[in-house]
Amino acid sequence: MSRGPFTFYEFFAGGGMARVGLGPRWSCLFANDFDPVKAATYRANFTDAADHLREGDVWRLGVADLPGQADVAWASSPCQDFSLAGARAGLAGGRSSAFYGFWRLMEALGAEGRGPRTIVIENVSGLLTSHGGADFAAVGEALASQGYRFGALEIDAAAFTPQSRPRVFIIATRDPIPAALVGDSPWRTRAVRAAAGRLPPHLAGRWIDWACPAPPARNADLAAILEDDAAVAWHPPDRTDRWLALMSPLHRARLEAARARGERTVGGVFRRMRIENGAKVQRAEVRLDGLAGCLRTPRGGSSRQVIVVVDQGQVRTRLLTPREAARLMGLPDAYVLPKSATAGLHVAGDGVAAPVVRWLAETILEPLLAAPAAIAAE
Ligand SMILES: C[S@@+](CC[C@H](N)C(=O)[O-])C[C@H]1O[C@@H](n2cnc3c(N)ncnc32)[C@H](O)[C@@H]1O
Repeated sequence: MSRGPFTFYEFFAGGGMARVGLGPRWSCLFANDFDPVKAATYRANFTDAADHLREGDVWRLGVADLPGQADVAWASSPCQDFSLAGARAGLAGGRSSAFYGFWRLMEALGAEGRGPRTIVIENVSGLLTSHGGADFAAVGEALASQGYRFGALEIDAAAFTPQSRPRVFIIATRDPIPAALVGDSPWRTRAVRAAAGRLPPHLAGRWIDWACPAPPARNADLAAILEDDAAVAWHPPDRTDRWLALMSPLHRARLEAARARGERTVGGVFRRMRIENGAKVQRAEVRLDGLAGCLRTPRGGSSRQVIVVVDQGQVRTRLLTPREAARLMGLPDAYVLPKSATAGLHVAGDGVAAPVVRWLAETILEPLLAAPAAIAAE
């Protein structure tokens, strides 16, 4: 049971990866998700879940369900409508409007004088640009209406774990901000600066340049998180051959070069539609830079990531396992996954990378929340 000095609500909790990242210094006062598999996974991992996990639609919650006043409300609201790959329905779109189901609770807490001191909103990077920046401004408007100042960071989980996974983190606070927490950050990417630049003056005036440093260099690549070769099911040779046949000459050449080097090389293979000579062609593309591609939420086997291993002149392929997906999210092997592989991949693929949450907690949230006491004591 977590009994740390900092408290939080976890909205859109999924498998509880924000909680894993926040760690033992944080006590969860309340968690919510409407997906039965996610809720079961949350319960399997947090023995105190019965105290505070409410399984159900965020729109069905009332302010009375939320105990006390939390230091942080964490909200990884559904990303479908923001996704660059999706229809860009934006905040007004059906599923992302779950954000407003969350937001009306923040307003109601504010009316009772119990608004969280800090709010973190995590989403896909498309939130920075969808509808020409209108969605990002809408989030800023909501935050400003409750007296929050805010800033955003675009963090690729690849800095922490071997998975390319850029996400935007909006951190909003009503607390006084220590000067040390304001300044440069490698995560204030061009897209973040452009999004901030598009804000209307009354929101721009509430902007915070969070000073969040880069972490020490990552020391694990994709090969380091794989399960033992003997413990996984490899594709039969004809299935591997089908993957190779889908590759363009450039990607085949990459594999051939790895084969010629002789040393063990691990990579990810992804299906992509490409236009070649005016026609759509399905291609398999391989990346051998030590990173997995961004995990997604597969409904079946066809969209699962494929691992390719070149070793001693031989090329083998297989599907990424749920445990490997969990490792790519920075979860410890003690994390309990659903029994079904598809469900396990879904829980992992929908989550927030735990080490990114930890880094934000360490570099911004914990110093910020500890600051008023420190200022008062001076
Ligand atoms: C992007 S995922 C966040 C996952 C979580 N941060 C984690 O690390 O596992 C969004 C979550 O919101 C949940 N969700 C979507 N709409 C919801 C709603 N209306 N009410 C409650 N939960 C909802 C989904 O089931 C999903 O688990």
